[in-house]
Amino acid sequence: MFPFELFVKERVGEKRFKHSVNVAKTARWLAFKYGANEDKAVTAGILHDITKEWTVHEHMSFLHSHNIGISKYEYTSVKLLHAITASCYSKIVLRINDTDILNAIRFHTTARANMSILEKIVYLADGISEERKYSGVNELRYIADYDLNEAVFKEICGVISGELIKKEHLIHPDTINAYNEYVFLNSKDAMQKLAEKNTIGIKNISKSNKFTKVY
Ligand SMILES: [Fe+2]
Ligand SMILES: [Fe+2]
Repeated sequence: MFPFELFVKERVGEKRFKHSVNVAKTARWLAFKYGANEDKAVTAGILHDITKEWTVHEHMSFLHSHNIGISKYEYTSVKLLHAITASCYSKIVLRINDTDILNAIRFHTTARANMSILEKIVYLADGISEERKYSGVNELRYIADYDLNEAVFKEICGVISGELIKKEHLIHPDTINAYNEYVFLNSKDAMQKLAEKNTIGIKNISKSNKFTKVY
């Protein structure tokens, strides 16, 4: 049994509980594969949706009573709110003080730029957990088996194009920043490969790389 498993079981519905256990299992597998702490991955995985079934009123009163501010983006979406309250709940009520675990819960919905390995693992585990059945999930699981960054980037792209834009939902700036970071890193990688192929010095390439100037 995972830590907090019974605690979660008593607080969410059956479907959500099954999902939480599956995310913990997938997070543990990814942590093992990519050298992250498996106990932290399991803890963040099992708790990541602990407040997902709260009403808007419950989210807001919890945040208000603990003096926790949110941005205008989170105000518009319960889906965004639950990641914040789940993280704060884990800290305040369950007394989890590990920043990496709390951030992995906090950013499991939006992702963000400069994610830690644990954050990437929980973000991805949420998207590819055993009970997920959307088109493309098997390909994503396949990629997750050999390239964590590639799988996280694909998941971010899928969420933006397949979910947020299609439904005309707001895209949180953290998600855009995560997406841009990967595009930037990929283009830098492509420039480096081109430089190696053409035996051009990397220094010269980076000077002419417009992405370098922008960022
Ligand atoms: Fe969630
Ligand atoms: Fe989830």
